[in-house]
Amino acid sequence: MFEIMEKRTIGPGIILMKVKAPLIAGKAMPGQFIMLRVSEEGERIPLTVADYDRGEGSITIIFQEVGYTTKELARLSPGDFIRDFAGPLGMPSRLDGQGRVLCVGGGVGIAPLFPQIKYLYNQGTDVDVIIGARSSDYLILVDEIRDSSSNIYLATDDGSLGHKGFVTDIVKRLLEDDNRYDLVIAVGPLVMMRAVSSMTKEYNIPTTVSMNPIMVDGTGMCGGCRVTVGGKVYYACVDGPDFDGHLVDFDEAIRRQQMYREEEKEAEHNCRILSKI
Ligand code: FES
Repeated sequence: MFEIMEKRTIGPGIILMKVKAPLIAGKAMPGQFIMLRVSEEGERIPLTVADYDRGEGSITIIFQEVGYTTKELARLSPGDFIRDFAGPLGMPSRLDGQGRVLCVGGGVGIAPLFPQIKYLYNQGTDVDVIIGARSSDYLILVDEIRDSSSNIYLATDDGSLGHKGFVTDIVKRLLEDDNRYDLVIAVGPLVMMRAVSSMTKEYNIPTTVSMNPIMVDGTGMCGGCRVTVGGKVYYACVDGPDFDGHLVDFDEAIRRQQMYREEEKEAEHNCRILSKI
């Protein structure tokens, strides 16, 4: 059982939770994730580590209430316990030895990007960051990222904060203005990561994206999280979640992501009915 130490709402339906998990906090690295189960009967869901504090023994997760399990998790309060919390899982991001890096985060993808930004910045790497969301309310961790980056650029779809438009507009401008990066890291919706990767390909800049497919076991056994990269099949949970953005088959990933939409709606519907019985 894992105790919730802190819970904050940081955006509409976006919740930050700090969970006491000293063994995981002792080993976690940027890019890794945990699998949790809210209760004995619950489903297992992957959530990226948004921060870790080895001294305090805590792992921070940030999630949006989008499905049955995240809504169930959002009902818990500090002092409550999460049944299972396993990790760190996946491969840590490869961040060492970079001179200048551009990090691009969209929506809740900003959360997994944060530990990478912090790690790079603490190592003395020059880090430019672009983050975007549909409106200012959804733009999370702005102050934290501002404190851990060389330059920060904001974008919102409705223009309520920063550039009115997409993060990719800013990526395009920075590249056209002759900013040269050794690495670009993009984390967010698949369409956003696909757009960033196609731009950086033109400039030959190595680009890492973080894949977040459906996961069941998180340990390489079920095959649910497979992604095609450079014509070969990989499992995001053990080989990723980071992959070369220039080689990922995004069209297939988008098709696979849409496959279970109906089942998720159905699960929510059934659980609501059952909870009334
Ligand atoms: S989640 Fe089952 S193989 Fe990756």
